[in-house]
Amino acid sequence: METNIPDSVTQVARVDAAIAAVHAVTDSKPRIGLILGTGLGKLAERIDVQHTIPYDSLPHFPVSTVESHQGRLLIGTLEGVPVVCMQGRMHVYEGYSAREVTFPIRVVAGLGIECLLITTACGGMNPAYRRGELMLLSDHINLQGVNPLVGPNVDAWGPRFPDMSEPYDVALRARAKQIANKHAIKLHEGVYVSVLGPNLETKAEYRFLRAIGADVVGMSTTPEVTVARHMDLRVMAIGIITDECFPDTLQPVTLEEVLEAAGIAEPKLTTIMSDIVASFGEEQLQ
Ligand code: HPA
Repeated sequence: METNIPDSVTQVARVDAAIAAVHAVTDSKPRIGLILGTGLGKLAERIDVQHTIPYDSLPHFPVSTVESHQGRLLIGTLEGVPVVCMQGRMHVYEGYSAREVTFPIRVVAGLGIECLLITTACGGMNPAYRRGELMLLSDHINLQGVNPLVGPNVDAWGPRFPDMSEPYDVALRARAKQIANKHAIKLHEGVYVSVLGPNLETKAEYRFLRAIGADVVGMSTTPEVTVARHMDLRVMAIGIITDECFPDTLQPVTLEEVLEAAGIAEPKLTTIMSDIVASFGEEQLQ
């Protein structure tokens, strides 16, 4: 459990300082926030980048310690739509509190985004899922044992007891499915369970996680979604199945294999994400 939780005034002051540091670089007003997960940095190459801001140049920003994650904010346009992209994310297993991990979400929200699009690597537990395929998150289970909203609530950001009846935006999900269809990309839809990590799960744990209703498992995403929903941002998240977590035939997995699977799926994910962003430019979504 996090100790020394900052009071509301301090929390706001820290976020405002980071927002001011971004504003000192650019007055761009991004409409969409993007988070790129493990091995999924390539979407960034599609962005017409106007500013690159390393996390360590922003006050109070946590810095990603995972080698497969670059740590910087990219500000520019994707498909002509102003975006801010978190290239690299932080995880609770790195030693940060859930609150620290989600600090960047408060900051990008403060830049004025309307919605947050998330990519994430995950292990597939649904027997119909295969490595390298994609899953749209319809719901989640937070089993990390921590919550970024613990501590004094900043009422200006959101309510003490935020609703979680529909964390993943229904209209954005419908749009993602339409886009996947159009490009003949297989897109599962299911439930993500987050665990703390950093170890992968035992067979008994995969059996348990499947039994409680999850289709995939990962070590991120729920803190960011919780904070985004706290601030009433629209959220969409797509996971790449990087390994098959079937307890009866479980094989050891290496980070290289995870990155390889992310690489296989990346072009499909990039297509869906780009088209979703483009749809904002076309104002097909209200
Ligand atoms: N478990 C937890 N997180 C993961 C996995 C997994 O099997 N694969 C990718 N991220």
